[in-house]
Amino acid sequence: MVEKKIIIPEKDPFFYVESDTLRVLRRVEEISKKHPVNVLISGRQGCGKSSIVRQYAAVFNRPLATFQIGILSEPGQLYGEHVLENGETKYRSYLFPDAIQTPNCVVHLEEINRPEHPKALNMLFSLLAEDRQVWMDELGLLNVADGVVFFATMNEGEEYIGTETLDPALRDRFYTVLMDYIPSDVEVEVLAQKTGISKETAQEIVRIVNRLRDHSDSPIDVSTRTSLMIAEMVAIGATVREAIIYSLQINREHLESILLTLHLERGIAEVQNANEYVRFVEPHD
Ligand SMILES: Nc1ncnc2c1ncn2[C@@H]1O[C@H](COP(=O)(O)OP(=O)(O)OP(=O)(O)O)[C@@H](O)[C@H]1O
Ligand SMILES: [Mg+2]
Repeated sequence: MVEKKIIIPEKDPFFYVESDTLRVLRRVEEISKKHPVNVLISGRQGCGKSSIVRQYAAVFNRPLATFQIGILSEPGQLYGEHVLENGETKYRSYLFPDAIQTPNCVVHLEEINRPEHPKALNMLFSLLAEDRQVWMDELGLLNVADGVVFFATMNEGEEYIGTETLDPALRDRFYTVLMDYIPSDVEVEVLAQKTGISKETAQEIVRIVNRLRDHSDSPIDVSTRTSLMIAEMVAIGATVREAIIYSLQINREHLESILLTLHLERGIAEVQNANEYVRFVEPHD
């Protein structure tokens, strides 16, 4: 059996957050010293929701445990399961009961707005409510430990219309933080610092990516995650053009027309042996 571990995550030295958000998180930290507290982080895909939860845990020296709510199909599924052992059924508990009973633990509930079955959230309600406890026939009464902070994250944005919005009774129990993609100047810093590319190259990437985002006919939603993927590829020698094509679902012609509107210097717009085929038999050249 895999050993259950709840550990304090590593700090990301290049994580940026809006100062208002930081202020709220510091207040959450204060409140958590009095009683457990719930925070809902909502924002578009790849905007930094999971990272901000991890960074909160790292900065405040707290263990972190993450749970996918999006895959739950029944209420008790987070807690444990019945298993057959030597002809006997036994109850094996999962990480979740440990996490909520670990003092100061950050409990991250991912995709809280998308459980496969609406009733799957039932056994979370009372943990998030004032009494902070839940009764399980198999485990008895579980109490949330002192200092626990629940972070729930959800994707919410134009492109997620159709996703079940969060139950108002559940939403009511959370402080809410809305996140968006970091602004361009910060994105340039993040790309350069995290991947080691020059600031000029990072600016070039962000300029193109912004053009794709704002394109009037067919805007493409390029997340911070994707622009980092582009920068990472450039950092190991790919051209910006190449890196964009392989990080986004975009065809060459479309990219070409966008590059033209940016009047890019040849180095970046240049076609690279587009249709040359080479043998793929060695790991390197
Ligand atoms: N503000 C930021 N500062 C530095 N890096 C960031 C920031 N926001 C996002 N990133 C980076 O972008 C990537 C994606 O972030 P993350 O996985 O946290 O997004 P998410 O919102 O949880 O995505 P999803 O909606 O897919 O769950 C990570 O590598 C993260 O480090
Ligand atoms: Mg995430």
